[in-house]
Amino acid sequence: EARNSEVDRPTTSAADNVHKQPFVIGVAGGAASGKTTVCDMIIEQLRDQRVVLVNQDSFYHNLTQEELTRVHEYNFDHPDAFDTEQLLSVMEKLKQWQAVDIPKYDFKSYKKVFPARRVNPSDVIILEGILIFHDPHIRDLMNMKIFVDTDADVRLARRIRRDTVEKGRDIGTVLDQYSKFVKPAFDDFILPTKKYADIIIPRGGDNHVAIDLIVQHIRTKLGQHDLCKIYPNLYVIQSTFQI
Ligand code: CTP
Repeated sequence: EARNSEVDRPTTSAADNVHKQPFVIGVAGGAASGKTTVCDMIIEQLRDQRVVLVNQDSFYHNLTQEELTRVHEYNFDHPDAFDTEQLLSVMEKLKQWQAVDIPKYDFKSYKKVFPARRVNPSDVIILEGILIFHDPHIRDLMNMKIFVDTDADVRLARRIRRDTVEKGRDIGTVLDQYSKFVKPAFDDFILPTKKYADIIIPRGGDNHVAIDLIVQHIRTKLGQHDLCKIYPNLYVIQSTFQI
């Protein structure tokens, strides 16, 4: 009798709430470290699951007219450059299975562009960005934290290519921005958040072994999630075995 009532408890309240929550993965790392590639590879391998990707870049503050006229003095790598309140509210809604509107950001005009992207909640939510481990409230929403650890020279080389080719910027501006803002912000704000990571991936998207292991782990977690939906009592079996 006593055993049964104890056994029943987790299946009805706490356990159900826990298992209904989406699995949130944070992917942080320096600019041009290969975060996008890591996310794309995870999404590709999880193609039978519903996965949503949220990019911290979408939450850049719009620049004032004055900031726009002196844009080369603006620090896009500082935590204050992002609207963290808005990011937190979007992530909380997704975690509670509500649809959200995520702004689109244009790197050329330094502005949010409309219409926003309508995003439906999903079993897996990946949040990607240079400073997503900075805010403790956002960190707390994550079930798994990944830091993409790529050498500074590789990041700089990629950045030069990307900013000159894709963003149409001149190389002098890219190098000035790197030494004035990007490198110091990496040392002061991004690198110190590496300690919050559960997993550190050397060489980013080139590291297929790491990606395979991560995907296996996510699958295990999602499998438990699905099984608990089909067989609520399975939770009991699991917890009994754990004891
Ligand atoms: N940035 C910029 N101009 C803006 C806004 C942001 O140059 N108007 C730069 C910031 O200086 C910051 C970088 O964008 O260093 C952040 O984006 P990044 O992490 O490089 O982009 P991802 O493609 O998400 O990263 P990865 O290459 O790791 O996939």
